[in-house]
Amino acid sequence: MKVLVVGGAGYIGSHMVKMLVKAGHDVVVLDNLSTGFRELVQYGRLVIGDLADVHLLENLFQQESFDGVMHFAANSLVGESMVHPSKYYRNNMSNTLNLLDVMVRHNVKHFIFSSTAATFGEPEYSPIDEKHPQVPINPYGASKLMVERVLQDYASAYGLNSVCLRYFNACGADPEGELGECHDPETHLIPLILQAASGRRESITVFGRDYDTEDGTCIRDYIHIQDLCSAHALALELIVSDKKSGALAYNLGNGQGFSVQQVIDVVQKVVSKDGCSLVVETGVRRSGDPAVLVADATLAKDVLNWTPEYADLETIIRHAWAWEKQSNTEF
Ligand code: UFG
Repeated sequence: MKVLVVGGAGYIGSHMVKMLVKAGHDVVVLDNLSTGFRELVQYGRLVIGDLADVHLLENLFQQESFDGVMHFAANSLVGESMVHPSKYYRNNMSNTLNLLDVMVRHNVKHFIFSSTAATFGEPEYSPIDEKHPQVPINPYGASKLMVERVLQDYASAYGLNSVCLRYFNACGADPEGELGECHDPETHLIPLILQAASGRRESITVFGRDYDTEDGTCIRDYIHIQDLCSAHALALELIVSDKKSGALAYNLGNGQGFSVQQVIDVVQKVVSKDGCSLVVETGVRRSGDPAVLVADATLAKDVLNWTPEYADLETIIRHAWAWEKQSNTEF
């Protein structure tokens, strides 16, 4: 297949590109490099450009005949979205419409969309399945939910088949060590703890120990980037093979929660083998953090025939740690 991966220079997109190329697909990456890195595009052909540029999109779709599009290009910082909602609605929503409209004009019918657990808002029950009400509590989640809604209407009006994959906590790194997480600024728990262990940061601060959980710290569902990507590949196959059509949506997680303290404990264990340790501090709660966010990914497993390969937290941390050690010298 010829696949366009929008945002293929980012953390998740770059792993996806590698997986698609290794599976024999022809991949074009479209990325404006605003948060992605040219160095992460080690597979596929990179076109530098922005989804706001409709002219560029038209030309690209005229030159290439894509079988499907995967869309990872978005701003994804919850806190920033509260302060700059315009950036989020414009990039995540309005620019995505540009992409969808060019697909419709060029009769490209298969679309895989990066959605998020943030579309659910405050959990009403746990684990969160697809029937859980979607009431986002920040512009980031709202911008993603709007696209989910648009996709339903584009499926019935234009026959655009899509799969929205709602990630819980994406983490880990390429098991072969070629790719990994590098955000600037970094806000995610696992890379921050690893940076504290490698000496790039002085310490890691636990945001609150007074939650209603066993050890008082927040519980999240950490899913290995490789497993996340394999679900995308299966989702594309599902709609391209016509086994299913319309606007589909699945939650992606391991279905098992780990507390912030448990993650820190596993990191301590992994990094101690390299003689490293870290300083842990306790801070106040970060606003907008629910106590527990865990996915029920039964539907994805059943419908996509998806089996996570790297569900073990220690394996996730080992891969991320290998990347952290390497990025210290290379980036
Ligand atoms: N945390 C800390 N200290 C830090 C950073 C994070 O204690 O320095 C805690 C957070 O409070 C949270 C957990 O670690 O309890 C995980 O935080 P992350 O920032 O790594 O991830 P989130 O769960 O906040 O965010 C994820 C996705 C978002 C998505 C959100 C849905 O990364 O894109 O889930 O609510 F919007």
